[in-house]
Amino acid sequence: MTVESVNPRARSAAADALREPPLAGGGVPVLGHGWKLVRDPLRFMSRLRDHGDVVRLKLGPKTVYAVTTPALTGALALSPDYRIAGPLWESLEGLLGKEGVATANGPRHRRQRRTIQPAFRPDAVPAYASVMEEEAHALTERWRPGQTIDCTSESFRVAVRIAARCLLRGEYMDERAERLCVALATVFRGMYRRMVVPLGPLHRLPLPPNRRFDRALADLHLLVDEIVAERRASGRKPDDLLTALLAAEDGDGAPVGEQEIHDQVVAILTPGSETVASTIMWLLHVLARYPEHADKVHDEVESVTGGRPVAFEDVRELTHTSNVVVEAMRLRPAVWILTRRAVTDTELGGYRIPAGADIVYSPYAIQRDAKSYAHHLDFDPDRWLPERVKDVPKYAMSPFSVGNRKCPSDHFSMAQLTLITAAVATRYRFEQVAGSDDSTRVGITLRPQNLLLRPVPR
Ligand code: HEM
Repeated sequence: MTVESVNPRARSAAADALREPPLAGGGVPVLGHGWKLVRDPLRFMSRLRDHGDVVRLKLGPKTVYAVTTPALTGALALSPDYRIAGPLWESLEGLLGKEGVATANGPRHRRQRRTIQPAFRPDAVPAYASVMEEEAHALTERWRPGQTIDCTSESFRVAVRIAARCLLRGEYMDERAERLCVALATVFRGMYRRMVVPLGPLHRLPLPPNRRFDRALADLHLLVDEIVAERRASGRKPDDLLTALLAAEDGDGAPVGEQEIHDQVVAILTPGSETVASTIMWLLHVLARYPEHADKVHDEVESVTGGRPVAFEDVRELTHTSNVVVEAMRLRPAVWILTRRAVTDTELGGYRIPAGADIVYSPYAIQRDAKSYAHHLDFDPDRWLPERVKDVPKYAMSPFSVGNRKCPSDHFSMAQLTLITAAVATRYRFEQVAGSDDSTRVGITLRPQNLLLRPVPR
C-alpha cells in the first residue's frame, strides 16, 4: 500500500490505516534505547534488522524510526517525503552554518547543487590530476623508513590539501591547507562530543578542551573569510568551485549573500576532508593488516606503470586497487549513520511514518549484513569483480548515498583514494607499531582510534 493521494486529508487517512513499526527490543525505562546507542552504536545498529525492516526506537521520550534493509534505505533516500534534518544535521548547522548545501532543503538546495555540481562532474575531475598526483607522492616522500607515522594527522593533511587545492585553487592554499588541517581535526573531535552530549552549558565552561574547540572553530571560519576575501581582492576568476560559489545567484537572479558563500565553502570543505581522511586511515590499516592484498596492489600498479610513478590516468586501469578501496569502504564506511525527517504522513515498507518523524539508518550495518554478503565480515576485494558484484543486493553498498542528497564528490573521492592507495602501496609495506590502537573510534565518521604505522620500503 502506498500513500500517494494528492489530497492531504486522504493521504493522512491512508497513512493512519498502515501498521506501526515494531518497537525494537532491549529498551530500558526512561532512557529507552538511548543508552545502547551511546554505549555501542555500531553493534546496536547492526542488530536492529532482527527486529524488523523498520523499527521504532525510544530515545528518552522521543520515538525515532530505524530502517534496516538495503531496499528500504534506497526507498527512503529516493523519496520526496523526507528531507535532511534530525539531530545530526541540527548540531552540524549550529556549528558550521545554516546556509550551505549539506543542510539546505527544497529550492535553495536544488539551486546550490546546480552551482557546485560542475566542479565534481566526471569530466571535471581530470583537471585535478596534477594536484592529486603531487599530493599522493608528497605523502610517500615525507615518510622515512622506520619512522612512526601518525596516520590520523597524515590522512587529514593529504585530504584537506587535495580538497583545498583542487576546489579553492590558489597559491596561498599551501599554508592555509595546514591551518585548515589543524582547525578541522579539532572541530570534528569536539563536534561529535557536542552531538552525543547535547548539554550546551557544559560545552561553554572555560575548560581547556572547550577553549581549544572554540579557537579551532573560530579559526576555521576566519580562514574561510580570508580565502573568500583574497580571491575577491585578486580579481582572478579561475575555473573552480570558489569562482562558481562567488558568481552564484539566488532564485531571483540576485547575487547570493555573504553568509551563504561562507557557509557553502564550509559545507564543502568539512565533509570533504573528514570523510576522505577517515577512509585513508582505513586504507592504510588494510595495507598493514592484509599484506597479501597490499602486495597485489603493488603488483597491479607495477604492471600498469612499468615502474614509473603512478599517475592519475592509470587509475581507470587499477581495478584491483579500486576494489580494495571499495571493500575498505564497505567494512568501514566513513559515513556510518544518516538521518532524515518525514515532511508528511507517509509509509515505508508498509509501515506508517508520521509527519515530523526522525528516521535513521546505518550504512555500516547495511554494508556488513550477512543477509546481503556471503562471509560478510571477510575483507574480500574480489567480491567487486564483475561476475560477483551482481550478487550484491541493490543499495547494499551506497557509501556515497543515492538520490538528491547523494555525495557530489563520488568520482573525485574515488580517484584520489585509488591514487593514494596505489602510490603508498608501491613504495612501502606497513607494520603497526607498539602503542597503535586500530579499534574503531565512533565519531561523526568512523576511523581508527590511533593508528600508528611503520613504513618499510619495498
Ligand atoms: C570517502 C569520501 C566520501 C564519502 C564516503 C562521502 C559520503 C557522503 C554521503 C553518504 C553523503 C550523503 C549524506 C546524506 O545522504 O544525508 C554525502 C554528502 C555530501 N558530500 Fe560527501 N563523501 C565523501 C567525500 C566528499 C568530498 C571529498 C566532498 C567535497 C570536497 C564531499 C562533499 C559532500 C557534500 C557537499 C554533500 C552534501 C550533498 C547534498 O546534501 O546535496 N564529500 N557525502
